[in-house]
Amino acid sequence: MASVLVASNRGPVSYTLGDDGTLSSRRGGGGLVSGLSAVDSQDSLWVCAALDDGDREAVRRGVAEPGVRMLDIDPEVYADAYNGIANSVLWFLHHQLYDIPREPVFDAAFRRRWAAYRAYNRAFAEALAAEAAEGASVLVQDYHLALVPGMLRELRPDLRIGHFTHTPWVSSAYLRMVPDDIVEELLWGMLGADELGFHTWGWASCFISCFQQREDSTGTAQGLWPSGDPWYGVEWRRHDTGKGRTRVRVYALGVDGDDLRALAHRPQVDDRLARLREEVGDRKTIVRVDRTELSKNILRGLLAYRELLTEHPEWHDRVVHLASAYPSRQDLESYRAYTASVVELAEEINAEFGTADWQPVLVSVEDDFTRSLAAYRLADVALVNPVRDGMNLVAKEIPVVSDAGCALVLSTGAGAHRELGKDALTVDPFDVTGTAEALHAALTMPDAERAERTERLAEAATALPPQRWFLDQLEALRDPSD
Ligand code: G6P
Repeated sequence: MASVLVASNRGPVSYTLGDDGTLSSRRGGGGLVSGLSAVDSQDSLWVCAALDDGDREAVRRGVAEPGVRMLDIDPEVYADAYNGIANSVLWFLHHQLYDIPREPVFDAAFRRRWAAYRAYNRAFAEALAAEAAEGASVLVQDYHLALVPGMLRELRPDLRIGHFTHTPWVSSAYLRMVPDDIVEELLWGMLGADELGFHTWGWASCFISCFQQREDSTGTAQGLWPSGDPWYGVEWRRHDTGKGRTRVRVYALGVDGDDLRALAHRPQVDDRLARLREEVGDRKTIVRVDRTELSKNILRGLLAYRELLTEHPEWHDRVVHLASAYPSRQDLESYRAYTASVVELAEEINAEFGTADWQPVLVSVEDDFTRSLAAYRLADVALVNPVRDGMNLVAKEIPVVSDAGCALVLSTGAGAHRELGKDALTVDPFDVTGTAEALHAALTMPDAERAERTERLAEAATALPPQRWFLDQLEALRDPSD
């Protein structure tokens, strides 16, 4: 039995099945992995889903990493829950990405997928209920598992349950397009937690705003605001179990500066850096690194770069845009189409401005962290312009490792803007001309100013490294007092 449990869709390890039937495992990185490493591993368990055939085969063969339990959920149920609801509905809601004349459509097919999402959440709740020691702390992650807190609370009222949202939270006005019974299930699912965490107060406020004297068939709920109260959150009364409250707090995840610098100075990164330097020559670099993700606003970023080259021809042959847009969620047609548009636009820009010696945009669509780190080190300018983003760690990582300091062009849509905004060049994510001008200002920023800003950015970026982020949540969860 474990006394600290983490639950997330994507776990810390994944398996690949070779043609000869052998299984190889790969451990992932990221904030949660280093966060959980702060806890005694004897005592902790990470519950995650088997994502593909390799993972499922590992579960069937009983192969398991210590401290990890992978759930083998029926592949169709999983696909409907992950692609059909988590990535196509909840992600689109929280990032407010819908193309409104066409989407969303709440029909019978949606209802079937929602039932799958419920079943997938239930599989997690049951596994957690079976594995948790009396009074254990459970930290549930993200929009994939929004119903788990409510389900787990019913199964195991003794547990301390936390939930952290890594995305933004949808505004209450945008959420109105969703059928009432679905909103009810979603919100009460979240209210099953003792503690809810968000990256910024902006996203937390969006959540709390969903409870302006809410009354529905489950109960009543009232959002509480930070006005001298010892806690912020939601006070509720359920018709079945009575009253309670869910606290809401903000933990702005940052990066571990020492770890990241060590990673960025390994020999293989030095090699990649040398090769990139050869390609770029003595030109300036504008660097961006994203999953090819609709919310990252890569297309408007490229349009801004094109406008920079049109309006400021003095940059011709003096700048290169290094864009890593590695594939993500390619099961979804909208993501495949977006990836193709990114590549196409980059090619157009190269055709329009490129010369025999100068390729204005170098796009990489491979998931190549070594190249990304090399590009971070080379960056004179970092471009991070999402339309809406829970935090965006790239904005925090680049200033920490850039060799000569970099100017950060950052949109107000990134959660990271709350902490980094004062030392970044702020842009509205939809304003292409404004972004082009910010790129120009970033490229012409005096060296001394750039170095000073980079130092302050790096300091802000490392203020709450993953281990502290995780332990702070655990401490708050274990302390039931106000
Ligand atoms: C975001 C989400 C994570 C998710 C990640 C990658 O950061 O908040 O929960 O794991 O994207 O997306 P994927 O669908 O590949 O897991």
